[in-house]
Amino acid sequence: MDLEQQLAKMREDWDARARENAKHYVQTAQTDWTDEEFYASGEQTVAEEIKTDMTNICQGKDPKQMRVLEIGCGAGRVTRALANLFGEVYAVDVSGEMIEQARHGLRHHPNAHVFQNNGKDLGVIPDLGFDFAFSTIVFQHIPSKAVIENYVREVHRLLRPGALFKFQVQGYTGVDHNPDDTWVGVSYSDEEARDLGERCGFEPRYRHGAGEQYFWLWFFKV
Ligand SMILES: C[S@@+](CC[C@H](N)C(=O)[O-])C[C@H]1O[C@@H](n2cnc3c(N)ncnc32)[C@H](O)[C@@H]1O
Repeated sequence: MDLEQQLAKMREDWDARARENAKHYVQTAQTDWTDEEFYASGEQTVAEEIKTDMTNICQGKDPKQMRVLEIGCGAGRVTRALANLFGEVYAVDVSGEMIEQARHGLRHHPNAHVFQNNGKDLGVIPDLGFDFAFSTIVFQHIPSKAVIENYVREVHRLLRPGALFKFQVQGYTGVDHNPDDTWVGVSYSDEEARDLGERCGFEPRYRHGAGEQYFWLWFFKV
């Protein structure tokens, strides 16, 4: 399977999941989410992963003056909570169906801008200079290290010097992944994650959860 086929498969599979039950595939903790519960779970993610970490994320800036980037926004679960906290949010997702649902969920948030992308770069995002980038439960599903590395390079291109990209990869290396599988993606050891950051021009300052499904990385743009 070549890269173009893999990208098409990611788009098609995620479009199908979005049509079947977007909220469930975005956050599998529940099958039937009400809108209220779904967006509350995004607020919880932001409370746990962002509001507890404002020193690294804001670096003294007022969040309302910050422009933030999100990769793999799905139906806008976390995007909405980001838009409640920060000045502006720009987000991408490979699935047009997810983006449609995100647009609907964000219709009262004019400071949130969501775009369907090609599954590998951030060419659809205006190069405005970003103060923070975030991604959760996305790279665990990507079946290609080349695609993930390209995203890390793209985030580096768009972030301001010193700014943080906080994101997750799959840290559990015990499963063989299949390049056709858009649910179980590739995994990274601690050393591979550090090398990835350094190769892409980041200082991989902190890492948490090596060996686990939710392996968090704090990459600061050098
Ligand atoms: C499990 S959902 C998580 C969505 C969101 N981050 C959240 O926490 O609510 C994974 C999302 O990643 C998107 N995705 C998968 N592969 C992608 C890729 N190569 N580029 C961009 N988005 C991708 C899917 O379409 C899906 O919306």
